Amino acid sequence: MTENLLLLEGSASREEKYRHLLPQVKALVSGENDLVAKMANISAALKQTFDFFWVGFYIVKGKELVLGPFQGPVACTRIKFGKGVCGKAWKDEMPIVVPDVEDFPGHIACNSESKSEIVVPVLKQKEVVAVLDVDSDSLNDFGNTDAFYLGKITDLLFEN
Ligand code: SME
Repeated sequence: MTENLLLLEGSASREEKYRHLLPQVKALVSGENDLVAKMANISAALKQTFDFFWVGFYIVKGKELVLGPFQGPVACTRIKFGKGVCGKAWKDEMPIVVPDVEDFPGHIACNSESKSEIVVPVLKQKEVVAVLDVDSDSLNDFGNTDAFYLGKITDLLFEN
């Protein structure tokens, strides 16, 4: 079966791109019950659509987050509860937008090219089971629109 992503041309806004992407991600993950497979395609769809510097999942395993499916340069494999942006989003159970990673106390720099970041916790039955982490090589690249739509996208992980 061929899987294709239809991309909007470059002049579309980020919100327009998310709105266009959302039903496509829904179709991509529907009927699939393997979490890693779904995370892998979501990472790829976000990378293809926005060409983010790094996009991927960390999965809760015991008291740590362990690197899951991602697109981009190699990254740290384990992050402890409460540590870095990812560990804090897990602890707080809230999305975190970091306009400048240099200003975030305890930020874990997997790659020096990363300048801004957003982390969205993935909840299953009210418990954080993973986080979605997106890094940009530009400062101040993320905001509420990203938090909203990335949340909608990760909700699709447990919809079917
Ligand atoms: N910067 C993250 C670590 C993961 S990498 O960005 C891929 C953090 O502070 O948790």
